[in-house]
Amino acid sequence: TGAITIDPGYKNSGSCTSGITFLDGELGILRYRGYAIEDLADNANFLEVSYLLIFGELPTAAQLQQFETDIRKHSLVNEEMKGIIDGFPKTAHPMGVLAALTSALTAFNPKSVNVENEKELYQAVCKTMGKFLVIATWTYRKSMGYPLNYYDNTKGYVENFMNLMFALPTEPYKLSSVVTEALDKLFILHADHEQNCSTSTVRMVGSSHAGLFASISAGVSALWGPLHGGANQAVLEMLEEIHQNGGDTEKYLAKAKDKNDPFRLMGFGHRVYKNFDPRAKIIKKAANEVLGTLGVDDPILEIAKKLEAAALEDEYFKARNLYPNVDFYSGIIYRALGIPTDMFTVMFAIGRLPGWIAQWKEMRENKEPIGRPRQVYTGSPLREFKKPV
Ligand code: CMC
Repeated sequence: TGAITIDPGYKNSGSCTSGITFLDGELGILRYRGYAIEDLADNANFLEVSYLLIFGELPTAAQLQQFETDIRKHSLVNEEMKGIIDGFPKTAHPMGVLAALTSALTAFNPKSVNVENEKELYQAVCKTMGKFLVIATWTYRKSMGYPLNYYDNTKGYVENFMNLMFALPTEPYKLSSVVTEALDKLFILHADHEQNCSTSTVRMVGSSHAGLFASISAGVSALWGPLHGGANQAVLEMLEEIHQNGGDTEKYLAKAKDKNDPFRLMGFGHRVYKNFDPRAKIIKKAANEVLGTLGVDDPILEIAKKLEAAALEDEYFKARNLYPNVDFYSGIIYRALGIPTDMFTVMFAIGRLPGWIAQWKEMRENKEPIGRPRQVYTGSPLREFKKPV
């Protein structure tokens, strides 16, 4: 089959053709189905963008309403799932619990989806969007020891998220439009990013014709790592640490540059963006606005700005084209909205869900072959079998 080219991390290898997301890392351009991310973040809501990513076109008002209704209809999670949640210690990381619960959904929805049947496919999309949101919030409720909430039929998707997270029997959650608008924007900015690590994982697992829940569960696990979605939690922990140590950003910059120190400046750098990350620009502006509107004075925002300014002036970061990425400012907004730090990557997963679904669907519709990379063997040559004495 000819010589095999090894490309660790697939830095220069494409895995598929795709009509979903366009990204130009040199120019800092990101578009979903041809629409600029800036326009979508300003003018659309998260469900509209989800529909666009998954089905290829923006929904009409009637299609959007139907989509909301169908997601709501499929949002019920089997009661026996609660027993599974109870098996986890309260201290379990929500991402681990979310991956396990997503996988467990296969047990209660065992029928595999016929991707050639439009109705079945649509139903699978709605089920995934509905149930994933509910179980994502249950990971938090469990860690707090709170009763689990259900989807509220009178509220939209993003409003439901806050309600599922924070409503208590004695104290209904008071929704504010500042909060829902900020969340809509954040979820939209996270909704797809072409062949990133978790999306490639979803496509790879799905390429064996494993089901949608199983593929998404694998995506959650891939996203959890600190080099990928887990960076948003790591950024906030880093900023807090700098704050507690007197705000000495220079010290942390020096650590990040020191090749003998494993520390990296979290929220900085990207495989593809080499000039700036357009998502980070929008999120930085939103962080200023949201904190201002909510009247939150968080010293960590100042530390982040100081750190960013110093890194952008620094020769090490300049030479390597390292800029703040989507994870650098997002956690500051989440924190202002009352989302606990260990839920940040779950927030990323909720945002990325429509992208995972769209990419899984595209991969199956394009009838892509099973993902199966090659290797070059570097181990021992043939050895005679002898039991060690
Ligand atoms: N701090 C310090 N040095 C860095 C950083 C950083 N954050 N990022 C890259 N570098 C250096 C790296 O050491 C290497 O230096 P040299 O050429 O001297 O060996 C050079 O820059 C190129 O880095 P790389 O690791 O070869 O680049 P990559 O494309 O393999 O990795 C990355 C991309 C995002 C994993 C990396 O930049 C990183 O670890 N960043 C910190 C974690 C982070 O913020 N991740 C979120 C990414 S965006 C959202 C998402 O995907 O979820």
